[in-house]
Amino acid sequence: MKLLILGATGPTGRHVVDLALRSGDSVTTLVRDPSALGDLTEKVTPFTGDATSHRDIVAAAAGQDAIVSALGRGSSVRADGLFTQASAAVIGAAKEAGISRLVWLSSFGVGETFDRSSAAQKTIFRTLLRSIYADKRIADDRIRSSGLDWTVVYPTRLTHGPAKGTYSADDRLPMKGNPTISRADVAAFMHQAAHGSEWLHRSPVISD
Ligand SMILES: NC(=O)c1ccc[n+]([C@@H]2O[C@H](COP(=O)([O-])OP(=O)(O)OC[C@H]3O[C@@H](n4cnc5c(N)ncnc54)[C@H](OP(=O)(O)O)[C@@H]3O)[C@@H](O)[C@H]2O)c1
Repeated sequence: MKLLILGATGPTGRHVVDLALRSGDSVTTLVRDPSALGDLTEKVTPFTGDATSHRDIVAAAAGQDAIVSALGRGSSVRADGLFTQASAAVIGAAKEAGISRLVWLSSFGVGETFDRSSAAQKTIFRTLLRSIYADKRIADDRIRSSGLDWTVVYPTRLTHGPAKGTYSADDRLPMKGNPTISRADVAAFMHQAAHGSEWLHRSPVISD
């Protein structure tokens, strides 16, 4: 499969790239600083650009089968419009490039998943993550009404632990406390989702 992976220099995106390469996919990346790809530069088709730019995504998306986004704001608590702008650019570019499949990484607690979160989670979502979650909510809703073959993924708190493959994934999961899931497991789920039809037009929650 030919995959355009956004956020490839971030920890979750890097796992998606590694998995995709290991499984024989052909990987294209769109990154702001190509030097951040390190040893991946030789193994992927690297485009330099910004994920909020329609023009940059169109250039990288030509000929791809699917787009997988692991975009994020790193340690910043300010969204700065990343998700709203990138979602608009990605949807427009996907349509222009004739790509229907989009797997998009959101966060548990965004949108209607907030109502299903635990008291401990709600405290963090309402305060520290408020700006990011408000921006993600608009982006996620836009993706769901885009007409694309989307999957929007809602992981709980991310860790740098190894992939265990024992996580739960469903349209709804019971929540208690502040559960976690490793970025490696999230990447495996997203990669698998891009390859299959099980999660088409669904917004799965994933957690250990
Ligand atoms: N932390 C948690 O507990 C948690 C829980 C649930 C969900 N999430 C979500 O999971 C996602 C991934 O998080 P992460 O920690 O693995 O990654 P991250 O550190 O947030 O990495 C983000 C990636 O997005 C890229 N990026 C940001 N703005 C860009 C732009 N304008 N154009 C192109 N690329 C851009 C970054 O590129 P550069 O290298 O150029 O900066 C980097 O590759 C995020 O959306 C986050 O909100 C996090």
